Amino acid sequence: MKAIAVYPGKPQSAHLTDIPKPSLENIPNGRGVLVKVLRVGVDGTDKEIYAAEYGAAPKGDDFLVTGHENFGQVEAVGADVTEFKPGDYVIATVRRPGTSIYDRIGLSDMTLDTVYYERGINLLHGFLTEYYVDHADFIVKIPEGIKDIAVLLEPFSIVQKGLAQADEVQRRLCVWQPKRAAVMGARSIGLLATLALRLRGFDVTTFARTPKPNPHSELVEAIGGRYFSTQNESILKGAQDFGPFDLIFEATGYSPIVFESMQALGKNGILVLTSITGGNQTIEIPADEINEQFVLGNKVMVGSVNANRQHFEQGVRDMAQAETEYPNWLNQLLTHKIVGLNNYESLYETLNKANDAIKVYCEVAENTN
Ligand code: BGC
Ligand code: ZN
Repeated sequence: MKAIAVYPGKPQSAHLTDIPKPSLENIPNGRGVLVKVLRVGVDGTDKEIYAAEYGAAPKGDDFLVTGHENFGQVEAVGADVTEFKPGDYVIATVRRPGTSIYDRIGLSDMTLDTVYYERGINLLHGFLTEYYVDHADFIVKIPEGIKDIAVLLEPFSIVQKGLAQADEVQRRLCVWQPKRAAVMGARSIGLLATLALRLRGFDVTTFARTPKPNPHSELVEAIGGRYFSTQNESILKGAQDFGPFDLIFEATGYSPIVFESMQALGKNGILVLTSITGGNQTIEIPADEINEQFVLGNKVMVGSVNANRQHFEQGVRDMAQAETEYPNWLNQLLTHKIVGLNNYESLYETLNKANDAIKVYCEVAENTN
């Protein structure tokens, strides 16, 4: 069957390859699920893999099948799978357990291992192919009503984990009644974070460079968020006008914003970092001032990567709620559709060049049901 792959370490090496169709027997104890891939989204991580700045091939292979933001339909299940049946819509999580204590208790997103396994990213083949099999434990069921937007669930799970981490950390306060949130960045993760925070009732200010009106500002405002352009005014000015922020969700992919966000955070507030910044940027910061404000204000900053199945499941619930509160909003994030694995060149070209894109995705197979 067809698959889109790269040679990790070799820039711009995307190509179409032929791999054997996986079978249920690949998974032990009758717990396999064979899934027909319908859609796969691509993001900044795929960009880095394409540029050979990130990613690794599975042991014994020189290529990596790419794609981690998946959506598909169950084709067949093993004898011991009760939770899925053929025809169900499903999504697979990305990371697979290693050996640390966290991996052993179902929290592989919190692994201590240096080497981590992620489908389509690191050491495991991904989903830009016709079929995959995986263990039922790593597969999440998608209700029919959200199937058209479900390809956004993996990025949404990143937001869900970040917010869940904030809730866990803020239990330190015994009473946490957050009201105002800021989101840094208005690309797909920033927009999804804006949505999740609006669904939780926050007053949300979403910061991004481009002046409004633009498609991103319109999406923010359509769900009752406030769009703040940093073209002519600083983040600190935004915080003066619309803060103090109880929670800041950073998703710009630009690390200097982290330090400005630290200064924009309110007392007892929490700053959640989700940008993966592979570069080697250095900047000067007012270290004494930032440190003092953090100490005197009991502030917290937490990094958050990946997501486990509970975050995907919360994402499903949020998507269903979003569809009733803000009908058709999520659908508008699906801006660039590339049809068929054969069009891998245009998939990567769109990912790398379409500045107006929110989510670029490959329609691997048409959903005929
Ligand atoms: C993926 C995560 C992954 C992270 C680091 C992100 O793009 O969505 O699942 O953990 O990259 O590899
Ligand atoms: Zn991703």
